Amino acid sequence: MSTVVIVGAQWGDEGKGKLVDFLTEKADVVARYQGGHNAGHTVVIGNEKFILHLVPSGILHRGKLCIIGNGTVVDPFYLLREILGLREKGIEVKRNLLLSKSAHLIMPYHMAIEEASENLKGSKKIGTTGRGIGPAYVDKMARTGIRVGDLLYPEVFREKLQRNLRYVDILLKALGSSTELSSSEEIYRQFMECGELLSSHIEDTDIVINKIIDEGRNVLFEGAQGTLLDVDHGSYPYVTSSSSSAGGVCTGLGVGPTKINKVLGVVKAYTTRVGSGPFPTEIKEPLGDIIREKGGEYGATTGRPRRCGWLDIVSLRHSIRVNGITGIAITKLDILDGLETIKVCTSYKCNGRVVEEFPKEIALLESAEPVYEIMSGWSESTAGIREFKTLPSSAQKYIKAIEKLLKVNVHMISTGKEREKLITIKEQF
Ligand code: GDP
Ligand code: IMO
Ligand code: MG
Repeated sequence: MSTVVIVGAQWGDEGKGKLVDFLTEKADVVARYQGGHNAGHTVVIGNEKFILHLVPSGILHRGKLCIIGNGTVVDPFYLLREILGLREKGIEVKRNLLLSKSAHLIMPYHMAIEEASENLKGSKKIGTTGRGIGPAYVDKMARTGIRVGDLLYPEVFREKLQRNLRYVDILLKALGSSTELSSSEEIYRQFMECGELLSSHIEDTDIVINKIIDEGRNVLFEGAQGTLLDVDHGSYPYVTSSSSSAGGVCTGLGVGPTKINKVLGVVKAYTTRVGSGPFPTEIKEPLGDIIREKGGEYGATTGRPRRCGWLDIVSLRHSIRVNGITGIAITKLDILDGLETIKVCTSYKCNGRVVEEFPKEIALLESAEPVYEIMSGWSESTAGIREFKTLPSSAQKYIKAIEKLLKVNVHMISTGKEREKLITIKEQF
């Protein structure tokens, strides 16, 4: 048996969805442990493209159990729409999808609070996905959150809603928001209706997943966002509000650290970031636009153009450390085809000083100038290659250089968006 965490090692959108889908074949369970529908995980099977936001990317395989853990925040209306959309495409979604009773609900006022607080930040705005993620986690930590399980107890739900709306009313006015929320009764009615439709999925998922692990079956933990967006280990405050690094698995699913076997870090062959915040290796010249177009680097959730840059070893070393990464998967190698040279950032210069470690201070990170090693590119196509030895020799050298710089082995290399376009060097299960 094995349990494997699939974690983004950069600022999200590394290609986690594709890898989770591929690895699900040998897994019994796929579980999300944090985040919400801010995530957008793309899976391409043949000519069909699926973008999963809340439902784990394992759902496309029949007979596998998918779990949305307690560490996530859930907009139940969105989840219902996602389930219905999958069913329309012929995907079975019944009791093969379980939703934790302890996950927190995203309420309509969370979106309104987020919008108002982003507006107040002016040029310092985070550039969130606008889905109410941050305010939902604020309520969780403030102990005023409403949980999925409350949907099953109408009176408890009503009381919490009424209490929160009194506070929200004051807060929204203070933030200068002009959003008019529906009445308490209307919100109550809509949530009860939605809760009823989701009720067959609601479970004590911590009990279910631990039983499965104890039976010796294979489990994948699907991270959303990436380590550099983690609320503790990312480029704070330009982060999301959850523990997207591997540690989130323990709290976000109720799985003890002794039960985690492997951590596969997903690393795009270059770097992207969507939203604001420091990005030392961002390519501001036209090449950045060329990579964006070639890589289709537009947000899977918001459609926003992603900022593109070179691979950043400094931040990746940090990711490897804080996640305990045991192997990496390099994705989108094919997007670098045809480049004469490829740059790899091996240290930063901050205010004239050489910095080898990812700075904790945002001002220092903002001042970071990348120090690059320049490598030869390759003119051949790597698209769809399924064996390491068939890669152009410069592409092989690029992969080997990454391994050497990071001191971690590359276990998989993705060479295209479709499921089968993948080199497996070491099996995860
Ligand atoms: P996630 O959030 O980490 O699951 O990543 P996204 O789905 O947001 O973004 C990754 C994008 O790259 C998607 O459009 C994928 O279909 C695509 N993709 C994943 N792996 C590869 C690859 O190896 N090559 C190419 N060309 N596209 C890929
Ligand atoms: P996946 O799982 C890339 C970014 C937002 C913003 C910041 C905070 O597809 O990799 P939030 O709405 O979470 O409060 O926004 O985090 N962000 C992502 N960037 N991929 C994601 O998810 C992201 N989810 C959030 O753009 O900068
Ligand atoms: Mg994504």
